[in-house]
Amino acid sequence: MVDSIGVAVIGAGMAGKAHMAAWRNAPSLFAPTLPPVRLVSVGDVDEPLAAAASRRFGYERHDTDWRAIAAADDVDVVSVVVANRLHREVVEGLLAAGKHVLCEKPLADSLDDARAMADAARASVATGVLGRVGFTYRRAPGLAAIRELVQDGTLGRVLHVAGRYWTDYGASPDVPSSWRFTGIPGTGALADVGSHLAYVAEFLAGPVASVSGGAFTTAITERPVAAGKVLRGQQAATTGETATVTNDDHATFVARLGDGAAVGTFEVSRVATGHPNGLVVDVLCERGSARWDQERPSEIGLALQSDGPRTGGYRQVVLGPDHPYVAGGMAMDAPGVGWGQNQMFEYQARAFLDEVVGAADALPANATFDDGVHNMEVLDAVVRSAAADGAAQTVRQAVHA
Ligand SMILES: NC(=O)c1ccc[n+]([C@@H]2O[C@H](COP(=O)([O-])OP(=O)(O)OC[C@H]3O[C@@H](n4cnc5c(N)ncnc54)[C@H](O)[C@@H]3O)[C@@H](O)[C@H]2O)c1
Repeated sequence: MVDSIGVAVIGAGMAGKAHMAAWRNAPSLFAPTLPPVRLVSVGDVDEPLAAAASRRFGYERHDTDWRAIAAADDVDVVSVVVANRLHREVVEGLLAAGKHVLCEKPLADSLDDARAMADAARASVATGVLGRVGFTYRRAPGLAAIRELVQDGTLGRVLHVAGRYWTDYGASPDVPSSWRFTGIPGTGALADVGSHLAYVAEFLAGPVASVSGGAFTTAITERPVAAGKVLRGQQAATTGETATVTNDDHATFVARLGDGAAVGTFEVSRVATGHPNGLVVDVLCERGSARWDQERPSEIGLALQSDGPRTGGYRQVVLGPDHPYVAGGMAMDAPGVGWGQNQMFEYQARAFLDEVVGAADALPANATFDDGVHNMEVLDAVVRSAAADGAAQTVRQAVHA
């Protein structure tokens, strides 16, 4: 095993800080089996932001060009947490420099870029260099518990998955334009939060084979132009000009999952006032149903037919040491302590470090770049369906060179 692992985070915005904290905390989850993790650099083109974040999270230095991190001998592992359209250039540069890369979702802004990145990651495996994608919700104890109940037959065959990911960061017309509001249809709410929802649906119920009923709406068509930098959902000083919103505020679609017998109905939004981070999934099965709500990630709702009509119905199961990710992972390791979304990033980071060092008792690995391409193929089928007035579209299967 290596003597130590140097980590860096590129992008010090909203999600970048979650990565910074995650690398810091990952070694302290579970038993101490990792070599020392060195917090080396925070990279961001916004120098004051990079400097402040590196101080806050205890990183040794900051950089303003990702290439400095690619060239740094003391960095082994890098999170890429910048706008989707920047992922490809940065990730390919890092992989070529021999860095293990944990890239944020969606893998890229276009399928062509995502496929090229997956080719690069597959080539890197030969040199022992890993590329993985941060579909953080697979670390949620509640979702992992529902998956277990599906896979061990407790819930029986999945009949219907209903999911929605409503957010409200774009609900106010005063929120300025930013990278999230420009791009072709499908690069808006669908890419931003629909990528998570599609991943979660497949995590629970198997691969999406086809999509129909794709529909996009842009509810707020013009937004003010920010006078400077603006982070997600922030209101800021503006120039007086406006920019046209070119992608989706809201999207819906229907999917066929698993063996094709299960149907999925999905809705995503960034203009849903009062729902800042409203990811909710219902999994309705032959023997019971389960429900998960992002606001209570270590609880599930569960209804089992075997309870019978007299005492049956939904009960709230508070997950504890018998459930995935809860046991052994928390500093105060006791039932009922609770769990939050930032911890998902910590378990994700731990899984990545486990994989990098080849840990014996590794957490389930993060999604591969090929998984990231498949996720984008599902979203692409939604885009094609929307362009064809909701007609059914088969999800294309990746063909590797
Ligand atoms: N897994 C999750 O739950 C989750 C949550 C939020 C965002 N994300 C993903 O994380 C990524 C970033 O999203 P965000 O909300 O943090 O964005 P953000 O706009 O808040 O932050 C992006 C940062 O990148 C910096 N930046 C821009 N160009 C750069 C460059 N060339 N080199 C280095 N830094 C550069 C910006 O200055 C900014 O600070 C996206 O891919 C997004 O989809 C994932």
